[in-house]
Amino acid sequence: MRIDIVTLFPNMFSGPFDESIIRRARDRKFAEIVIHNLRDYGLGRHRVVDDYPHGGGSGMVLMPEPLFSAVEAIKGESPIPVILLTPQGRLFTQQVAEQLAAYSRFILVCGHYEGVDERVREYLATDEISIGDYVLTGGEPAAMVVCDAVIRLIPGVLGSPESVRDDSHSGGLLEYPQYTRPQIFRGWEVPPVLLSGNHAEIARWRREQAVLRTLARRPDLLEKGDW
Ligand SMILES: C[S@@+](CC[C@H](N)C(=O)[O-])C[C@H]1O[C@@H](n2cnc3c(N)ncnc32)[C@H](O)[C@@H]1O
Repeated sequence: MRIDIVTLFPNMFSGPFDESIIRRARDRKFAEIVIHNLRDYGLGRHRVVDDYPHGGGSGMVLMPEPLFSAVEAIKGESPIPVILLTPQGRLFTQQVAEQLAAYSRFILVCGHYEGVDERVREYLATDEISIGDYVLTGGEPAAMVVCDAVIRLIPGVLGSPESVRDDSHSGGLLEYPQYTRPQIFRGWEVPPVLLSGNHAEIARWRREQAVLRTLARRPDLLEKGDW
């Protein structure tokens, strides 16, 4: 999979993509992440990318020309999905992550300041994604969230396919509680069933815990009936 990210702040991406599972996925060629500096497509000698909003108001708006130039240079004639990160987009969920994980390539466009010229949304973007009902200063953290959630779904990136299957939100439930050593920590014991070696009993306990936990914390998920 290849993910192209268009951003005015490319340095924000050094770090998050250079550690842990995402780093390993990149090193092992499961995922390629290419960062494009929007400034390179800016206008004139000063590489201008933003301007005041027509009609007045505070803040700056990213101009259409640099964004169209950047995206068109990246995709050429290929029908690659162009995803605008915006608090006005469809909500990013595990199901949306699964949809994106099926693509071989897509482009993420990060807005900044007051956002992007509306013509980018109308005529350049093929999809709009929000990572939640709150407003970030820019699309960069949202791009990191999307990349992380999508890349870990690529077959082979995680050690075992079960870890994805049992994850919260993958099968419509929250995940069951996890324990590791020591068996007793400050007097708090690991549930004995997990030490029993009885795989059928363990699977039943985990399923029951997942349902109880979802009922207690997110009954709305149970009502959806996707489990
Ligand atoms: C300050 S926000 C602009 C918000 C815009 N004025 C509005 O009210 O819809 C700047 C940029 O951050 C990104 N952004 C902010 N919140 C986001 C969210 N919840 N999900 C995805 N991107 C977001 C978008 O790329 C947006 O263009």
